Amino acid sequence: MVVSVSTPSSLRLAVLLSGNGSNLQAIFDAIAANRLVVTIVVVISDQQDAYGLQRAKNQGVPTRILEKKPTATRLAYDQALAALLHDYQPDLIVLAGFMRILSSEFVEQFAGKIINIHPSLLPAYPGLHTHERALTNRDRYHGLSIHFVTADLDAGPLIAQARCEVATDDTPESLKQRVQALEHRAYPEVLSWFTARRLSLQDGLIYLDQKPLSAPVLLQYPSV
Ligand code: GRF
Repeated sequence: MVVSVSTPSSLRLAVLLSGNGSNLQAIFDAIAANRLVVTIVVVISDQQDAYGLQRAKNQGVPTRILEKKPTATRLAYDQALAALLHDYQPDLIVLAGFMRILSSEFVEQFAGKIINIHPSLLPAYPGLHTHERALTNRDRYHGLSIHFVTADLDAGPLIAQARCEVATDDTPESLKQRVQALEHRAYPEVLSWFTARRLSLQDGLIYLDQKPLSAPVLLQYPSV
């Protein structure tokens, strides 16, 4: 007798980036180490020289470049981006250093399916220059946030955070490096929750293991 076993198909990710792509690399590394079971179906960049595109090519992952034409509106760009994404049918859109603000029309089309990683402990420091701002304010802790994307910049429901202590001799660069080391652990870990279907967004509330999340999960990585 032949018994056929059906395994759930692996989660399809589209990764959007504008630059270095070290978070994309961390996802590839987690896949290679069997810590994460996902399929990256496409990597899309608005910058043709983004190094993240090369990282994707090195792994044999399809890449697409969608540059903004000087005359195009945000809406026109986002419509083209949505059309491109529909070709790849992703389950989840992973922003990994994608330096564009997405329109509410775009976000609503993919509600609950877009996540972002941001280099601060949101709601502190949305936007740019987060490491400089944490240093200027002499914060004791700095870190990262992973959140669902809504139309409000860096203000969607928070899934998880990880933090490090700010040292008196930290510079923006040293702080950035420590936060990025945390990012490279945290993003694959949170993605693995999606793979295990543990995480969802319903009516603006995050559910982890069927329970509503009242505060972001604080991820701890002792050696960073
Ligand atoms: C990360 O610091 C992330 O938090 C922010 O953009 C940066 C992207 O870095 N959204 P990389 O391109 O993944 O190296």
